[in-house]
Amino acid sequence: MKKIDILEIKNNFHKFAELNFRNSENFEYYILDKEYISKLEPFFDAVQKDILNKEIFFRNTLQENLDILERGGFFVAAFSNMELAGVISVDMAHGEKSLPTFMHLSPTDILKSVIIDTVCTLPKYRGNSLQEKLMCICEYICLQKGNKYAFMSISPNNYYSVNNAFKQEYTIFAIEELYGDNQKAGLTRYILSLPLGKRLAKVKEQYSVINSNIDMQKEVIDLGFVGMKAINFTSVDKFFVSYSKAFYD
Ligand SMILES: CC(C)(COP(=O)(O)OP(=O)(O)OC[C@H]1O[C@@H](n2cnc3c(N)ncnc32)[C@H](O)[C@@H]1OP(=O)(O)O)[C@@H](O)C(=O)NCCC(=O)NCCS
Repeated sequence: MKKIDILEIKNNFHKFAELNFRNSENFEYYILDKEYISKLEPFFDAVQKDILNKEIFFRNTLQENLDILERGGFFVAAFSNMELAGVISVDMAHGEKSLPTFMHLSPTDILKSVIIDTVCTLPKYRGNSLQEKLMCICEYICLQKGNKYAFMSISPNNYYSVNNAFKQEYTIFAIEELYGDNQKAGLTRYILSLPLGKRLAKVKEQYSVINSNIDMQKEVIDLGFVGMKAINFTSVDKFFVSYSKAFYD
């Protein structure tokens, strides 16, 4: 495992430095070796078991995680006193229904795209902004590797993850049915993107649509708006997504 130099990221990546994380001094971050990936199994089991709405998160099989490494992806984990607290995996674009293909990028840019495949934390460590921190660390690593875009898919019912992705300035540019096949129906997912290293310009909110109204959100996206903020939170099942003509500086 290779320890990540957080001070170096703070000094070189303004987005990371400006985030005000609670209890950040308690965590250490490592890039995981292939040998460590199988040790993540109980961690993913524990995260999956704790989730009430099973539709929002499916853990990968061990083989799927090993395939991510084979393709050139990587895993970063947050530890507290050497106990695993959170994990993020970054995959390379692959396959016909890979997330960057929904943006109609050129083949060259698809090759420079990465996908946040999994991000999860153990319940007892939540409230430390670990998702945001792990995403921001990965953005820095990917920029160093010469990547250009990051993508992720999130369930419209996963308030915590959607909100954290917005805070990291990812925007929703599509809503699709994903991960289905001949045997099982697809799942509705927001598709979010971030041009790495760019910042989202502050623009006025233009439409807000309740998370459960997928058709209306698709219409608003078709008009050229992107989802950029979670507002009017009533419950984890009921919040509004604010859509704007957003752009990155
Ligand atoms: C999404 C997730 C990674 C966010 O974890 P995190 O970064 O550790 O959480 P945050 O620090 O942003 O939490 C902010 C607040 O929301 C609460 N919170 C976060 N996730 C929560 C959850 N799944 N259930 C209930 N409350 C949650 C935290 O307790 C904290 O509350 P506080 O401000 O009162 O202390 C985590 O909820 C998780 O692992 N979920 C299951 C897997 C998943 O859905 N992954 C994303 C798939 S796209």
